[in-house]
Order: sequence, then C-alpha cells, then structure tokens
Amino acid sequence: MAVKVTNDKEAFEYLKKLARERKIDLDGAKVRRSSSRFCLGVEHGDYNGTELFGVGTDRFIWMAYKPNGTKKMRLFSGNFANDGVVEFEIGKVPAPKSQEVYETWARFPYGVDYILGRAGYKLTQGIDAVLYGNIPGGGMSRSASLSLNLILSVLDANGIDEPDRMKIVDLAQLVENEYIGSPCGKLDQIMILFAREGMGTHYKPANRSIDYVPLGKGASDFRIMVMDTGTVRPGLEKSTYKIRRAECEEMVAKAKAAGFNISCLADIREQGLFDKISAKFGGSDPHLVSRMAYIYKAQQRFYQMMDAWKRGDIETVGSIFRQDGIGLRDEYAISGPELETMCDIVRTIPGVFGERMLGGGDKGAAGCLVSAGQADAAKKAIEVGYPRSRPDFADKYAVHTCKVVEGIKLFDRF
Ligand code: GLA
Repeated sequence: MAVKVTNDKEAFEYLKKLARERKIDLDGAKVRRSSSRFCLGVEHGDYNGTELFGVGTDRFIWMAYKPNGTKKMRLFSGNFANDGVVEFEIGKVPAPKSQEVYETWARFPYGVDYILGRAGYKLTQGIDAVLYGNIPGGGMSRSASLSLNLILSVLDANGIDEPDRMKIVDLAQLVENEYIGSPCGKLDQIMILFAREGMGTHYKPANRSIDYVPLGKGASDFRIMVMDTGTVRPGLEKSTYKIRRAECEEMVAKAKAAGFNISCLADIREQGLFDKISAKFGGSDPHLVSRMAYIYKAQQRFYQMMDAWKRGDIETVGSIFRQDGIGLRDEYAISGPELETMCDIVRTIPGVFGERMLGGGDKGAAGCLVSAGQADAAKKAIEVGYPRSRPDFADKYAVHTCKVVEGIKLFDRF
C-alpha cells in the first residue's frame, strides 16, 4: 500500500518504522536523499549527442544506511515490501541480465555491487539499509536516483571517496546498461547528481562540462507540474525507447554509408545538410527521417530555450517545451495515449505555458510549466478531465507540483 511521505521528517519516521518492523538496526545511521529530475531539453537528446538542460525536483528516494562490519549487504525497500529483506554477500550476485533478477528491485543493489567490483573498487563493508521513495515510476528517473544513491552510499560506507562525479554518472549508467539491461543514456544521472536548488544544470557532451544557469531576473513565478498518468511503464529495454534508439543509430549508419560526415544525429546542425539527408532517405525510410527531424528541430529550439531561461522568459521556455512535446508525439512517436490525455487537458488552461510527455515514453508521467497563480486551475482540470477520459486509472493517477532542489543531500543522523 502506498504511504504518503511528503518531506524529510515524514520520511525519517517511516524509515525508522520499517527498520523496527524488519529488525534492522539503524542506530547511528546516515540518510542519503536523492532527487528526481525534470528535463527541459533535449528530451531523447542524450543518446543522440545533444546538449542537455534540466533541474532536480522534490520527489525523492531516502536511504538510511550504515556499515555493518560484515561482508553482507542487507537492504529493505518500503516500496517493494513483498521482496522482503534483500541479502547477499559482496561480490556474490546473480549474473547480469539474468532471469532471476528481472522482477525484483534487488537488481539495483546487485548491479551496484557488480559494477563497482568490476571497476576495481575494493568493497569490504556490507551495509544495513532501509529505503523509501515517492518518485513516480516513468518520467522522473526513479531508477537513476536509486542507482546513484546506492553507489554513493556503498562507497561512503567503505570509506572510498570518488572525487570525479562524472565517473559516478558513468558507473550509475553501467548499472542500468550492463547489469539490468536498460539502454538508458546519461541524462538522468547527470541531472540528479549535479542538481542545485533553484538552478538549471547545463551539460555539454563535447567536453563533458557542467554549467549552472539561474533563471533570469524578472521571471514570472511558475511551477513545474508532473502529471503521473497512473500507468506502469516496463523497463526501457521493454519499451519503444529501445526501438527509437536503434532507429537513430540506423539513420546515422545509413547517412554515413551515403557519404555524409556525421557520427550522431546531433551533428546535423545545418539546414542544408538536414535537407540533403531528408531528400536522400525521405522515400525509402520516412520513419527514420521523422526521428531525425525531431532531433534536428529540438536541438535548434534548445538554444532558444537556453536564451529564454537566462533572460527569465518562462513563457518562451514553456512554448518551446510545448513544441518539443508535439515533436515527441508526432515525429519521434514516443508518447502514449494517457500521456497525451494529460497534455490535452492542461493545454486548454490559461497560464499553462507548455506541456509534454517526460522521459523514456509510452507511459508514466507527463509534465507542464504553469504560472503559479494557475497551478490550482490546472490541477482541478486534470481532476475533472482525466478520470473521465481514462477511467481505468481514475484511482491511480497523481498530480505533483514540484520545486527545484539539490540532487543529493546527506543527513548525518536521522
Ligand atoms: C530516459 C532515459 C534517459 C533519456 C530519457 C529521454 O529517462 O533513462 O537516458 O534518454 O529517457 O530523454
């Protein structure tokens, strides 16, 4: 049963209760809190080589943990209580992508142990841990938040200080790519690990740099709203995401074979080049050209969005967010019916600047940017319209109004 945890205090109380019930001793434990993320652009750009911009949002995973003086890892998740206490010895986990890990959340701690071991980190300390999260599944990066939290906490419990945060990003991605089998990119890990309160995080893949961009002065007060459709999205490896990634790679391979000098879709920046590739493949591979068109246009809009963010023009940021959403729906074809119902509802509300699907696609959550004064109106419109359109999800959907927060926070006691 879902438990309502909305802040650190409630989370700490709930973790203590779970620890008592499961007889896990967390006296003197620390708590690491990892956020969710909201991508402002380019959605589906990470594996296509574009720059990225996003923020950390205040839906979290909290994990209380302490080294237990043995080689055993013992973890309990309040979100997956039926899986019981996950117990294993350091270095002894099921093989990557094996059937037995497919359906259990334990694949994350297993994967962290596996990837850290393989990367040469000498783990000697097991941890006792209890965790709980209120991040909706699909769209807000629950899996990246969990992987990062586990990696940072296991390293800390083992007295290992990894100063290179990009390395942590890579390790967290490897947990998903190589152990779990999810073909995710690096967007989620970057936007969570580097997130700062009140700031947008700008990532440039060319030199793997991070810049923080405050919202320009004079911006009208706005809210980030996440509209969880109540649908459950399977892992990315089981969804349209995997197909889109393959299509983008196919488009690049075909263009290269035809003599175009590109190594990823983000390399197509000039209208002339875009037109030539479109003309060459429009007849034979219209669906691939369509995927390319989304990335090409979204990349151009990205720079306009960055300028708008810097001057505090949230209306323009929102209108670009909306155009991206239409591209994701029609050209990239990665949205889903329930996600579009959410978008269609809020698009009619004055004060909603823009709306679109979020993250991996098919199912999960959509998002919108809305003026502070109209956030309640948008929420009410969903409460009326969504259950009528999607009665199957009438008691499963949720609306989250989010703040921009730091990505990782460590509490020395709880
Ligand atoms: C998921 C993936 C990310 C990214 C987004 C789409 O969240 O995990 O790597 O590709 O989808 O932008």
